[in-house]
Amino acid sequence: MSTPAMSEGDAGNDLESSLSGASLRRTEERSAEIEAEIATNPERFRMLSGDRPTGNLHIGHYFGSLENRVRLQNAGVETLNLIADYQVIADRDGTGPIRERALSMVADYLSIGLDPVKTIIFAHSATPALNQLMLPFLSLVTEAELRRNPTVKSELAATGDRPMSGLLLTYPVHQAADILFCKANLVPVGKDQLPHLEQTRVIARRFDERYGRADASRPVFPAAEALLSSGALILGMDGEKMSKSRGNTIEIGMDAATTAKVIKRAVTDSDRHITFDPDNRPEVSNLIMLASLCGAGDPETIAEEIGDGGGGGLKRLVTEAVNERFASIRATRAELVADPGYLQTVLRDGNARANAIAEATLDDVRTAMGMVY
Ligand code: TRP
Repeated sequence: MSTPAMSEGDAGNDLESSLSGASLRRTEERSAEIEAEIATNPERFRMLSGDRPTGNLHIGHYFGSLENRVRLQNAGVETLNLIADYQVIADRDGTGPIRERALSMVADYLSIGLDPVKTIIFAHSATPALNQLMLPFLSLVTEAELRRNPTVKSELAATGDRPMSGLLLTYPVHQAADILFCKANLVPVGKDQLPHLEQTRVIARRFDERYGRADASRPVFPAAEALLSSGALILGMDGEKMSKSRGNTIEIGMDAATTAKVIKRAVTDSDRHITFDPDNRPEVSNLIMLASLCGAGDPETIAEEIGDGGGGGLKRLVTEAVNERFASIRATRAELVADPGYLQTVLRDGNARANAIAEATLDDVRTAMGMVY
């Protein structure tokens, strides 16, 4: 065997450092440059992002990524949205009510403004050629590198004593296939996903080094870049990361009364005078930030308005802001959910379009590797 590609550079360190201060700042600066490029040249970009269908999408997803995707779509960027159904089984037994969840995700996507004509909505399991890329890509990474992936590590920690499945260990490679199958060069993500993007770039580079075309200026795969959302990360109502499994979410499709109930249970603190102070009062500030993102004004002004109104006053304001911000989205969503046949048509159409792209890329890969029979 020739020199293994992984011997050049230490990708493991790159993965970890993708979350470190200097590297993170570079990514943030680059995100700002990309925004400027999108404004003048949207057709230079192809965006891929996705979600696991483990439950309904929530406002953490919305402000962390979904809102950005709609904006990119409307700015004229080509966009693909993946229902990452194979990722569901990386850390759990069985698929659950996967069909309902996938269709419900289509409803979430459409209700927030993703347009099924402009964007491709598709699922892993319906895109065989995408999944096949996993095989050559697996040959380009080492087990040690995967074990060092910070996101894999934290997801493993979150599963308690559960032994790591082969799919959990290798899912960053599968996610690289998600991004590279359509040669996406733009991925709107939260900070927690940055190591995956670094891994994707490493795989793209190694593929081209090993199997690349004679003309190095035309790589088989582009370098995918992160687009970080400018908004602050919204925490769950208990002050922890917002996630379905913690039961601390406000779902995009929740009704107004349930939203009020969930916000009523939110953790605050014992100081009745409300101030915006993210470092010292993370729970209170998170609620203020949420109201602000929903259009209630800037955080300092909101805090001043509430003043001595305490946690109760704050929660009333947040509830009103969230319910107002999502009212029309929720009304649209309710109509969509009533028509599962339509949701299925959208998904089937997206699957067909994604398959055409995946087949073309797999052909490029076979050609590069000399596997043309
Ligand atoms: N891992 C992402 C999440 O948990 C979902 C996802 C799958 C994704 N494939 C992707 C995100 C590709 C961006 C790009 O939310």
